[in-house]
Amino acid sequence: MTWPKLDEALSYDDVLLIPQYSDIRSRTEVSTTTDLGNGLVLRLPIIASPMDTISESAMAISLGIAGGAAIIHRYNGIEMQSRMVSLAQEVSNQKGHDPINIGGAVGISGDFIERAKTLLESGATFLCVDVAHGHHILMEEALAGLRDAIGNDVHIMAGNVATLEGINDLADWGADSVRCNIGGGSICSTRVQTGHGVPGLQTVIDCSKTDRKVTVIADGGIRNSGDMVKAFAAGADAVMCGSLLAGTDESPGKVMEDANGYRWKNYRGMASKEAQVNWRGNYSSYEGVSARVPYRGSVVKILEDLERGIRSGLSYSGARSIAEFQSVAKMLRQTSAGMGESKTHILGRQW
Ligand code: IMP
Repeated sequence: MTWPKLDEALSYDDVLLIPQYSDIRSRTEVSTTTDLGNGLVLRLPIIASPMDTISESAMAISLGIAGGAAIIHRYNGIEMQSRMVSLAQEVSNQKGHDPINIGGAVGISGDFIERAKTLLESGATFLCVDVAHGHHILMEEALAGLRDAIGNDVHIMAGNVATLEGINDLADWGADSVRCNIGGGSICSTRVQTGHGVPGLQTVIDCSKTDRKVTVIADGGIRNSGDMVKAFAAGADAVMCGSLLAGTDESPGKVMEDANGYRWKNYRGMASKEAQVNWRGNYSSYEGVSARVPYRGSVVKILEDLERGIRSGLSYSGARSIAEFQSVAKMLRQTSAGMGESKTHILGRQW
């Protein structure tokens, strides 16, 4: 038995970015474009999670037109999932847009190769090999199988991992970008159920040390544009979000209303009991929860706010692009008193 190294690990609230001299006169001078490698370039570095309460056609259209991308979830037959992809491409085309970026999620067993091929034929511009614990022999085999079947020219995202070893292995096995974070999602109970995980920002810091040709997607636990900016400073090339995009017109599911007039939508982890029973008819171990989130209208306004926040964030460090920001950003740790001061704190003050 070897003892684990008892390293300290940071998450988003533990750090702040130090403001620096800026010669940026307008936030419009700041570019939010990110190159995720192997042909996947996003004008907005935000990706919607492959979850059944987040990413279907409507989310793919709005995210794609805004310059980001949604990954259509895989909890459907191949035909239905592919139809969601082609519908999103068809609608955005009818609105006069160039083809948008849309991801198609696949698993690591069963029909995943056929699914991947059909998704690409239907207009998906990249694939996402979507499993909870991606640093796994089945991921290695799946990536080998996919590369054999579709070649090297399609961007493949894979994950999730929590370590430098994880991202390096996935890159060596054929991934172009990797979703980094285990157990940090808002609807996730992996750390409670299994005791495993690494705080989200630390995962990004660690995974960004990779020397492979691979890009880092900070996935899960991102609550606002400030967290996004911290993730980019730590080395992320894009962020993946669920809860930030949940409860919107574009997220799947009905708007519900309670007796007091409170309107909400459902948002659930894909490993929650509810999601498993829905898609498989039963559940095994569950590592997610199902939650009600407030109904918030169109995601388009939310994305505009997030984009403004990212631009402003980069400008506080005097950086005109994410790549430049990563080379100049200065991060420091804050105490819990600093964290308290960092949040709006007039409410609850003793006058
Ligand atoms: P959020 O943006 O904090 O809501 O986190 C969304 C992320 O949580 C997704 O992109 C997945 O990586 C992760 N996730 C989705 N469903 C589950 C689950 O049931 N258990 C654990 N993690 C999940």
